[in-house]
Amino acid sequence: MDSQRVYLNDVAPRDGLQIEPMFVSTEQKVALIDALSHAGFAKIEVTSFTSPKAIPALADAEEVMARIERVPGVAYVALVPNLRGMERGLRCRVDEMNLVMSVSETHNLANLRMRHEASFGQLSQVIRALEATHVRRNVSLSTTFGCPMEGAVDPDEVFRWVAKFVDLGVEGMTLCDTTGMAWPSQVEGITERFLTRYPRTDLTLHFHNTRGMGLANITASLRAGARRFDASLGGLGGCPYAPGATGNVCSEEVVHMLELMGFDTGVDLDRVLAASASLPRLLGHDVPSQLLKAGPVTRLHATPESNDLAMQSLGDQNCDKKPLL
Ligand code: COA
Ligand code: ZN
Repeated sequence: MDSQRVYLNDVAPRDGLQIEPMFVSTEQKVALIDALSHAGFAKIEVTSFTSPKAIPALADAEEVMARIERVPGVAYVALVPNLRGMERGLRCRVDEMNLVMSVSETHNLANLRMRHEASFGQLSQVIRALEATHVRRNVSLSTTFGCPMEGAVDPDEVFRWVAKFVDLGVEGMTLCDTTGMAWPSQVEGITERFLTRYPRTDLTLHFHNTRGMGLANITASLRAGARRFDASLGGLGGCPYAPGATGNVCSEEVVHMLELMGFDTGVDLDRVLAASASLPRLLGHDVPSQLLKAGPVTRLHATPESNDLAMQSLGDQNCDKKPLL
C-alpha cells in the first residue's frame, strides 16, 4: 500500500443529516451524495437503516439508496443497528454495512436501547449472515475515547470488543470519538496498539471536533500509521444523546491539511468546497467549516492599494538617508 495514500469516508449524509431539525428532501440528499461521489471520496456513508421513529431525518433510506448515482470506485455504506436494518440494507445493494455499538454501556442503552450483550448478539448474527454475500462488514465502536455520561473509557475494554469482532471476521473497524473527548497522545497510543495487533483489519478513525482537537487527533493517528478517516462535509454532525456534541472533523479541512502535508486523498478540494458552500442554504444555518470562510492557503488576496503609498513614503524616506559607505 502506498504510504501516502489516505482513504476518506464522508459521513455527512448520515452522521450530519441525522440530527438536522429540518427534513432534507430525498432529492436534495441524492444531489448532495452525487456531488460527494464526483469529488472523489473513497467511501460515502449514505444513510442508516434505523427505526424511523428514532431517526426520522433518515426515514427515506431506501429511496435515497435507489436514486443515487453509483460512481465506480466509490463504496456506498449504510449504518445498521440490528438484523432488521441488515435486511433493509441488503435489498438496497449497499457495498458496506457499518454496524454500530458503544463501548460505554450507558451510551449503548441511550443510543440503541440495548445492553452490550444484546447489541453484540444482534451484530454477530448480522456479521455471520453477511458472510455469504459481497457486503463488507465494518464495526464502529462509539465512545472509544470517552463517554459523555460515564467519562473515561478503559482502553482494555475497547480492545476486548475489538478482539471479539475481529474474531468474527469483520473486514474493518472504526474507533469513534463520538463526542470529541479524545486527545492526540491518547489517540496515538490506541492507534498504535490496534495496528500492531490487527494489521490485517482495516482501521478507520472517526473524530468529532467538539473540543477543537479533531485535526490534531488526525495527525496523531497518521503518525501512528492510520490511513483511513471519517470526515463530514462542512463539519456537520453530532450525537442525539450528547447535547452540545458538535460535528465531525470537516472533510474540506481534512483534505486541505492532508494534501498540504503531501498525502494523496484522491479528493478534489474545489468540488468539496462547492458542495459545502451549498449547505447553509440547504439546512438554513451556517456550518462549522472554517475553510469555507477563509479559503485554501493557495487563495491569495489582492494587495491593498494603500501599500503603494506606503512603499512610496518608505522609498522617499530611504532616499533621504545618507548612504552608509
Ligand atoms: N428499521 C426500521 N424499523 C425498525 C428497525 C430498523 N432497523 N429496528 C426496529 N424498528 C422498529 C420496530 O419495528 C418497531 O416499530 P413499531 O414501534 O412500529 O412496532 C420500533 O422500531 C421499535 O422496535 P424495537 O425492536 O422495540 O427497537 P427499540 O425501540 O429498542 O429501538 C433501535 C432499537 C436500534 C432500532 C433504535 O433505537 C434505533 O434505530 N436507533 C438509532 C440509533 C442511531 O442511529 N443512532 C445514531 C447513530 S450512532
Ligand atoms: Zn459520529
